[in-house]
Amino acid sequence: MTAARSETGVGRRICTAEELGAAVERLAAMLAADYRRKPLLLLGVLKGALCFAADLARAVAGKADGPSEIMIDYICVERYGTLGSEGGTARLAMDATLPVAGADVVVVDDIVDNGRTLAFVRALLEGRRPASLRTCVLFDRPGRREVQVAVDYAGIEVPNVFAIGYGLDYKELYRNLPYLAELREGLTV
Ligand code: IMP
Ligand code: MG
Repeated sequence: MTAARSETGVGRRICTAEELGAAVERLAAMLAADYRRKPLLLLGVLKGALCFAADLARAVAGKADGPSEIMIDYICVERYGTLGSEGGTARLAMDATLPVAGADVVVVDDIVDNGRTLAFVRALLEGRRPASLRTCVLFDRPGRREVQVAVDYAGIEVPNVFAIGYGLDYKELYRNLPYLAELREGLTV
């Protein structure tokens, strides 16, 4: 059995699956109201947003009188340097396929920490002239911000510990966990 399956790296729980589901529903209700009767392009930032973007899209679609159409696309952004720590620059590893020009775009990411990833994505997409551009993250560590970036929709404030699960990884493991947990003590990031 692999380390990921036996959950050897999983420490204290930060959010249960139920708490994550409730936060997704709250954000979906806000998006449904703000994009009522408009086409909405949700642009997930891989790999961390893989679970959140999929659940958010379905939750928005489940709201009455929401967007007229929901499109989903993904970009993949890689960070040089240690994830979740200071420094490092972002690089576009995989681009979106749908046109951003003229679209009402909401960038969907797992967590905003120092802000560099989201700032990179915003700058990239602003250059493509969307009709509007907003950002939506499930997790936020506001106290860690080094780059000021507009976060229009934020779900849950999380403590300053390395987190895994629901898309967030430690060495590419644990993204599949349905809850958010602290990385077990003793493992180094
Ligand atoms: P930022 O550029 O520092 O805001 O970091 C954003 C990205 O770093 C997120 O999209 C995550 O992919 C990653 N990240 C930040 N904190 C964590 C964490 O606690 N666990 C796993 N990945 C993280
Ligand atoms: Mg990410």
